[in-house]
Amino acid sequence: MDDEKPKRRIRYKGTHPKSFKEKYKELQPEQYAEDIEKVMQQGRTPAGMHRSICVTEIMEFLKITPGQIGLDATLGYGGHSLEILKCLTPGGHLYATDVDPFELPRTKERLTALGYGPEILTIKKMNFSGIDQIALEAGPLNFVLADLGVSSMQIDNPERGFSFKVEGPLDLRLNPKSGKSAAQLLKNISREELEEILMVNSDEIYAEEIAEAIVSGIEKGRIIETTTQLQKIIAEALDFLPQNTSKELIKKSCQRSFQALRIEVNDEFGVLDKFLEKLPDTLAEGGRVAILSFHSGEDRRVKKAFQSLFRDGIFSEVAPDPIRASAEECISNPRAKSAKLRWAIKA
Ligand SMILES: C[S@@+](CC[C@H](N)C(=O)[O-])C[C@H]1O[C@@H](n2cnc3c(N)ncnc32)[C@H](O)[C@@H]1O
Repeated sequence: MDDEKPKRRIRYKGTHPKSFKEKYKELQPEQYAEDIEKVMQQGRTPAGMHRSICVTEIMEFLKITPGQIGLDATLGYGGHSLEILKCLTPGGHLYATDVDPFELPRTKERLTALGYGPEILTIKKMNFSGIDQIALEAGPLNFVLADLGVSSMQIDNPERGFSFKVEGPLDLRLNPKSGKSAAQLLKNISREELEEILMVNSDEIYAEEIAEAIVSGIEKGRIIETTTQLQKIIAEALDFLPQNTSKELIKKSCQRSFQALRIEVNDEFGVLDKFLEKLPDTLAEGGRVAILSFHSGEDRRVKKAFQSLFRDGIFSEVAPDPIRASAEECISNPRAKSAKLRWAIKA
């Protein structure tokens, strides 16, 4: 009898469903375009999407023309790639890389459905530190774009463990199929190592207290395998803070600690250094590179590398100052606030 009952559709819980899985409309942007638009108008990013940042500024600088060959080193949701692809026809080709084994096939499928197949787009699941291999296959690149860090899809999905606001495994890897998760890293770390990671990667002011609490907690048998377990132990480590400010300060320390661990498990500074070292040899004469970063440690590396290549005459022009997202963009997408865009042109 039960089989004959019409299946009830899952109720969409108002305009703000709480859990990631309940946001099935946002997770299917192609089918629910109007709902997605509404979410974006409220200054939020729909759960299964990433809103590309500084698109106008990047496209104005890259000046892509039909027939060119270039690389989007951080494919993500493919928003920048899509704008690039529109400028490349006829005859051009875009290479795009990403390490995320879950989001990459979805993005590939979306771009293919929009008519961008292998004749114009080659997507590779690889780290951008291997940019030299792309240039070997593609030839000298007319343009390169890197939009560093994580996508909104990665941050918002609790199963990826990027956010302490929701319970999830403490993973933080861009590619969970390779390397150590943050939980595994914490299991065998010393106080000194953890303190250094927190200080060097994120300038965490309470690095000593947090490292002490985590390492001694684990030594005493405490389990830190989920995002909220880590958040809880950080809050306990900082319980000496005055009550009127503690909530905000603990939140900031959690943000910095998660960021520091994410940078560590993905070796984000190491791969950026390799990318910057190989970059000049991959660019064609007059080739343009734009790098968008969201962290002072990344921006410092990009700035130093570009300035040194300019002094050596390898780059003919570099951005005098970083370009910031417009006030309008920051209002409509708060994730744009910390973005810094730097560019350079090969001599
Ligand atoms: C900010 S998102 C890019 C968003 C993209 N520009 C868009 O418009 O949708 C950053 C992406 O870069 C990827 N990524 C980060 N570091 C990487 C690396 N070293 N090699 C390849 N991909 C990387 C992440 O997995 C993520 O998908």
